[in-house]
Amino acid sequence: MSEYVLEMRHIAKSFPGVKVLDDVTLQVKPGEVHALMGENGAGKSTLMKILMGIYTADAGEVMLNGEHLLARGPREAMDKGIAMIHQELNPIMDMQVYENIYIGRELRKGILVDRKAMIQETEDLLRELGINIPAVAYMRDLSVAQCQLIEIVKAISISAKVVVMDEPTSAITEREVETLFAQIRRLKSEGVAIIYISHKMDEIFQICDTITVLRDGHFIGTDAAANMTNEQLIRMMVGRDITEVFPKAEAEIGDVLLEVKNLSYGRQVKNVSFSLRRGEVLGIAGLVGAGRSELAETIFAMRQKSAGEILIGGKPVEIRHPKDAIQNRIALITEDRKITGLNLSGTVAENTTLVDLSRQFPKGLIDRQKENRITDEYIQKLSIRTPSAQQLAGRLSGGNQQKVVLSKWLLSEPEIIILDEPTRGIDVGAKRDIYLLIGGLVRQGKAVIVISSEIPEVMGLSDRILVMAEGRVTGELLRPDFSQEQIMTYAAQFGE
Ligand SMILES: Nc1ncnc2c1ncn2[C@@H]1O[C@H](COP(=O)(O)OP(=O)(O)OP(=O)(O)O)[C@@H](O)[C@H]1O
Ligand SMILES: [Mg+2]
Repeated sequence: MSEYVLEMRHIAKSFPGVKVLDDVTLQVKPGEVHALMGENGAGKSTLMKILMGIYTADAGEVMLNGEHLLARGPREAMDKGIAMIHQELNPIMDMQVYENIYIGRELRKGILVDRKAMIQETEDLLRELGINIPAVAYMRDLSVAQCQLIEIVKAISISAKVVVMDEPTSAITEREVETLFAQIRRLKSEGVAIIYISHKMDEIFQICDTITVLRDGHFIGTDAAANMTNEQLIRMMVGRDITEVFPKAEAEIGDVLLEVKNLSYGRQVKNVSFSLRRGEVLGIAGLVGAGRSELAETIFAMRQKSAGEILIGGKPVEIRHPKDAIQNRIALITEDRKITGLNLSGTVAENTTLVDLSRQFPKGLIDRQKENRITDEYIQKLSIRTPSAQQLAGRLSGGNQQKVVLSKWLLSEPEIIILDEPTRGIDVGAKRDIYLLIGGLVRQGKAVIVISSEIPEVMGLSDRILVMAEGRVTGELLRPDFSQEQIMTYAAQFGE
C-alpha cells in the first residue's frame, strides 16, 4: 500500500491554444496540509478541477488510496471521498444550510425526503464543530466566510479523505481565518489530507506541512515547508529572486486634487473628511467592515451619499452616478471583480476597452484591430497570462482576471485612482508588477488611494495612511511614523 492517500502522476492538460499542465505530479499523505503554490495561471485550479472530474486530463493518472480514480464529475469525486472548496464560491443561494449539505444525497424515510432528520444531523454537526449558524439559515444570508465553513462542514459530513481548498481566505477576515485554521487542524488530526492553495505566504508557513510548486504548468518540486524559506519558495514560483517586495515610488507631491468633506453614507460611512494630493499614495487601513469599501463606493456614487461634499481641484463637483465619477476622471477598481469588475463572457479585449469606449472609438464604431492593439499593450504591461486578446475573460485564471480589471480602468487615464484590495488573489511576482504600476501612476502626477487589509502592503505603498473603524476615520499617520501597532490600535477604536 502506498504511503500516499492521493497521487496525481504525469498529468497533462491543454486547452485550445494553451498547454496548461505538462507532466505534473502531486503526492499527498494522509493527515497532511499540502500547499499547492505557483503564480497566477500556473495551473493550480486546473489540476484540482481534473482531480474533481470537472476537466479530463489529456494524459496521466490519479490514484486514490492506491487505486485508480476516475471521477467523471464532482458528484463522483465526492462519493469517492474528495471534496473541493472552490476559488469562486457559487453557493446555491436559495438553499438552506442543511439542504446544501445534503445536496444529492438526501436522507430519506421510505421514499420521502426526511427533512427533519437532515436538519437534526446538520445541527448536531454544526454544534460539534462549534459553528454558530442555524441549519435552516438561507445560504444567501451568510457571509463568504460562513459559506466556506458550510462547505467544510459538507466535506466533513461526507467523510472526505481529501479536501481541496482553493484560496479559501481571500475574502475573509482575520478572525474567520482563525476559525478556518482550527477546522483545518481538526480535519488533519483525523487523518484527512488538505490541499491548500493560497497566495498569502505567511499562511502557507503557518498551516502547511508540505509544499508543491508549479510554474507555467510544470512541476518544479515538493518539499517539507520546514525545509523552505520564504525566499526559496518565491524563487521556485517565479524562477528568479525578488529582493524588494514593496518598491516605493519617489514621486513629487503636488497640489491637492481631491477633497472629501464630511462625507456620510448611512451608518457605514460617518462624517469622513480627507484630502489627496497629486503624486500621493493614500492608504486606507482598517478591519473588514470598517467602511473602507463603502467610503470608496460613496465617492464613486455607487452608493448615494447621505451628506457631505466632494471637491476636485478646489471646485465642488456633483457626482450622482458612476458615470459622473468617470467623467471627473475618477476610477474605482472594486474588490469584487466578479460582480462589478468583469464581464466573464466577454473577451479580454472587450473588457479592456469597456470603460473607455467612447473616448477610444468616438464614432461609435469599434475598430477591432485597434481594440486588440490597445489590449496587447496592457497584456504586456501587466504580464497578463492569456493566449490572446480574444480569449474569454472567464477562461483566465483568477489573478489574471484581476489584472484585466486593472487595465480596463487604467486605459481611461483617470487622475484619481481608487484601488480596493488590488492584490487579492494575486501572486507575489504580479503583486510587485502592480506596486510598480502604482508608482508609475503617481510619478505621472496622478493621485492614488489604496484600500488594503494587508498592513505590510499599505505600509509599503503609502505616503500617508488613514485608519478607519466603524465608518469613521480614527487615525492618520505619515510615512515616517508608520507602525503596525499604531494602525492596529486605531483600527480597533470602537465606541461612541
Ligand atoms: N476553460 C479554459 N479554457 C482555456 N484556458 C483555460 C481554461 N481554464 C484555465 N485556462 C488557462 O489555464 C491556465 C491555468 O489556469 P488556472 O486557473 O489553473 O491557474 P491558477 O494557477 O489557478 O492561477 P490563479 O492563482 O490566478 O488562480 C491559465 O493560463 C488559464 O488562462
Ligand atoms: Mg486558481
